Amino acid sequence: MASVLIRGMATSAVESAIKHVTIIGGGLMGSGIAQVAATAGYDVTIVEVNNQLVEQAQNSIKNSLGRVAKKQFKDDTNEQTKFVSNVLNRINGSSDLQGVVKGTDLVIEAIVENINIKHKLFESIDKVAPNHTIFTSNTSSLSITDIASVTDRKDRFGGLHFFNPVPVMRLLEIIRTNDTSDQTFNAIRNFGEKIGKSCITCKDTPGFVVNRLLVPYMAESVRLLERGDASGRDIDTAMKLGAGYPMGPIELADYVGLDTTNNILKGWHEKDPENPLYKPIPMLENLVKEGKFGVKSGEGFYKYNKK
Ligand code: 3HC
Repeated sequence: MASVLIRGMATSAVESAIKHVTIIGGGLMGSGIAQVAATAGYDVTIVEVNNQLVEQAQNSIKNSLGRVAKKQFKDDTNEQTKFVSNVLNRINGSSDLQGVVKGTDLVIEAIVENINIKHKLFESIDKVAPNHTIFTSNTSSLSITDIASVTDRKDRFGGLHFFNPVPVMRLLEIIRTNDTSDQTFNAIRNFGEKIGKSCITCKDTPGFVVNRLLVPYMAESVRLLERGDASGRDIDTAMKLGAGYPMGPIELADYVGLDTTNNILKGWHEKDPENPLYKPIPMLENLVKEGKFGVKSGEGFYKYNKK
């Protein structure tokens, strides 16, 4: 009993310490994470490389919040407007990474999947962030231990892996490394629960749980298409109607981003070249070379209307 109480006290002390959250990277994932954190009452700052990108992130959050508000407040347009502006008021934007990190309790990195760039970033903020600040990465496929290796706060480092679209997908993977302290783990798990996600605990293994299953599944579907075994539309229909998935794997690859999917596969193939699940797929590589990244670029396996 005593140990339960003590653990509870420690958790709530850490939990109450997270007030300000810094999201580094305002793309699809970063802006979704900023939205759910601000909706739960956290003060959030999105850090991007320039003001134009900050503005883009804020516009995308405004649109997404509009969809949530319509659902939550049905025909009450006043309440909808109030909800959107209350949440937006809790989200700031900045391009001054070091300045923002000096005053933050939790960092969530959601930038490009490149270990060297992530190392540079964490090395630079480790020097200026307060001692209590927890660092996390939303990496899809890289090792959290590897990302954290350049910092002096390996015990205050973990993974928070979100799913697209972040405001809709209910799962959050919480990754703990061998160095992540109990206090850090409890604090980020509480954060995940407070923002309304169902949290699962993952070891720091490639792809954690979801991507370890989802990426090879999408890759196999592209190989099926490449061999001409079935059309893209038929593969998608098969998995929607035959397995109950909300999207087929080909459209899901477009939705996740063909560049992202290809990068994940490439990274894993380099680390484990004998694994047939991770073998490069010429059809996927060619689409990426042509700049066809899926929904975000207007074309991938399918064509999309650019918004
Ligand atoms: N913001 C806010 N609300 C949103 C939204 C957004 N960006 N996108 C969708 N919604 C809401 C809509 O308002 C709608 O609400 P309603 O049902 O109350 O009207 C609801 O979500 C459903 O949206 P739509 O009607 O537009 O379309 P669908 O019913 O087809 O659902 C989907 C869209 C939720 C994306 C569904 O197709 C789906 O679940 N697809 C699978 C997505 C998936 O697998 N994501 C994980 C990818 S892997 C990943 O992200 C990991 C990374 O590391 C690679």
